[in-house]
Amino acid sequence: MTNSPSGQIDHVLIEDRLFPPPAEFAKKAVFSTTAQYEEMYNRAAESPDEFWREEALEHMHWFEPFGEVCKWDAPNVEWFVGGKTNASYNCLDRHINAGRGDRKAIIWEGEPGDTRVLTYSELRTEVCKCAEAMKQLGIGIGDVVSIYMPMTPELTIAMLACARIGAVHSVIFAGFSAESIVDRNNDAGAKLMITADGLYRRGKVLPLKKTVDEALEKSPTVQHCLVLKRSGQDDVPMTAGRDVWWHEVVDTQAGELPAEPLDSEANLFILYTSGSTGKPKGIRHTTAGYNLWAKRTFEWVFDHREDDVYWCTADCGWITGHSYIVYGPLSAGATCLMYEGAPNFPEEDRFWDLVEKYKVTILYTAPTAIRAFIKWGDQHVDKHDLSSLRLLGSVGEGINPEAWMWYHTKIGGERCPIVDTWWQTETGGIMMSPLPGITATKPGSCTRPLPGVVPAIVDETGKEVDDHHGGMLCISKPWPGMLRGIWGDEARYAEQYWSMVPGKYLTGDNARKDKDGYYWIMGRIDDVINVSGHRLSTIEVESALCSHEAVCEAAVVGRPDDIKGQAIAAFVTIRDREPDEALRAELKLHVRKQIGALAQPDDLRFAASLPKTRSGKIMRRLLRDVASGKEIGGDTSTLEDFTVLAKLNDDEA
Ligand code: WT7
Repeated sequence: MTNSPSGQIDHVLIEDRLFPPPAEFAKKAVFSTTAQYEEMYNRAAESPDEFWREEALEHMHWFEPFGEVCKWDAPNVEWFVGGKTNASYNCLDRHINAGRGDRKAIIWEGEPGDTRVLTYSELRTEVCKCAEAMKQLGIGIGDVVSIYMPMTPELTIAMLACARIGAVHSVIFAGFSAESIVDRNNDAGAKLMITADGLYRRGKVLPLKKTVDEALEKSPTVQHCLVLKRSGQDDVPMTAGRDVWWHEVVDTQAGELPAEPLDSEANLFILYTSGSTGKPKGIRHTTAGYNLWAKRTFEWVFDHREDDVYWCTADCGWITGHSYIVYGPLSAGATCLMYEGAPNFPEEDRFWDLVEKYKVTILYTAPTAIRAFIKWGDQHVDKHDLSSLRLLGSVGEGINPEAWMWYHTKIGGERCPIVDTWWQTETGGIMMSPLPGITATKPGSCTRPLPGVVPAIVDETGKEVDDHHGGMLCISKPWPGMLRGIWGDEARYAEQYWSMVPGKYLTGDNARKDKDGYYWIMGRIDDVINVSGHRLSTIEVESALCSHEAVCEAAVVGRPDDIKGQAIAAFVTIRDREPDEALRAELKLHVRKQIGALAQPDDLRFAASLPKTRSGKIMRRLLRDVASGKEIGGDTSTLEDFTVLAKLNDDEA
């Protein structure tokens, strides 16, 4: 291994297992030959205007045609200039008008076990009712609506109702605190808040409206609060003149409101995500480009067919829920399972119970969930018939090869391709992923870019680097689903994403490309560890640790070291073993054997759990502080309990 020049990262972990798509799957797939992908990829790269014009005309409804396809003046972009469309129309009316109104759109199950099915026609009626009520509450084009709701059909309904009348939704994950709601309401200037009385979580009711009441005391722009009765507690105070019940103002409407023709670039939603400076930033997405990107990436990556039952286990509070519970699958006319509650209620087999009961064919979940299932034990999976599954997806962070293999064998029965999808809140939809009918997968790699995505790996000077070394991942050309800005802070948008490498979008991730042209995401730029001049990616060391049978999860960070510059500190959670000195030595040696002396952790601590953001990402920033001595309690041999820390930082999305 050579000393790496600045900007490049040493790639240390060798993972060369290759899993070709099963022949059965490939035969019927949307992309069934590599040539088909290559032809499409090249056309999108070489004649993007022509390519996207065709896509937009074929896959969306236009009230008025667009002129120019893409107006690009970095960092500002407009797609489908001057056209008029409506995302709610594309998700609902388009199918109903084509005679598919009786198809199931949402199959919902609440945590207590209650269920509801909505066809596309029924869903439209509900969306129209909600839109009519919102209009009566004074909401119109461009007004911001904060949505703080449990995972009920009404959450999807509220989002689509906003889209129907041109209001801009800002969904706030229902686990966030009153303070977080206040920040978001005020930053966005929200006029209406939609919530519920309570939320079921692990059998308990969390009082959502109470949190909202606290937030509304400090949200001067919010005029009304629309409240869904979900949990039915009777002590929910309603403020006269401000608060209204859903069943009183929504259910009583006619449900016939036509979709408003909206400009292609009309704001569709804001979604807040944590920034490096702490203040959450409102990522701004607009109508036409986002809608098309969500639809097409859904169809390509999930190989969607008429008879599929598709389940994305995310919460609508995250971008995954926006793009792959609501806009993507509904634009594609899919039948979607939606589940309200925890994966371990009443038992740790709830997900597998749902898969069996509803004969789910496509499952899209996150590595953090997969690692929890592994920890809970195979007996919960073994109880259920998962033979309906044909495709598995992963999103949110890198999936370490051990978790990938478990997902592949235990859940997929070795017959389901796994699509490891790399993307971001900012990208609007999936950017890199296997195409399940054609891509031979490698555990831990998101493989290749989708049509329309032109990646580049650069060093700190912005120069493209040798592919086999790592570097910073950028996207060289605009794509329809990209963010249009940060709400109320265009300077920050330009600075954060476009200033380091002029003309290219900076993702903030490190990546490398292997000899087969496959991309490997190596973690956030800030997470790189520099050991004696070697820049190491955290994910590779974590994957090596996870390949030891006693390890459930691992997080690796750098801490200052006088001699090496940085030393490697690892935090691990374990199963079936005592956290003792022998195991500590064994794990260090294991990493040394797997990838070499350079990557052997200097410190290794056992943790009861790792600190995570609400969306399940490990908070390495916090662990860096702990590793460098700013710790709570000095005894490194005891189990560290990070649950308290994680709770303190609930604003890190
Ligand atoms: C960051 C974006 C993507 C929607 C949910 C998270 C990491 C995401 C992967 C993956 C490796 C991944 C990246 C990215 N990430 N998916 N398949 N492999 N890393 O959205 O909160 O905006 O986070 O999540 O670091 O930049 P987000």
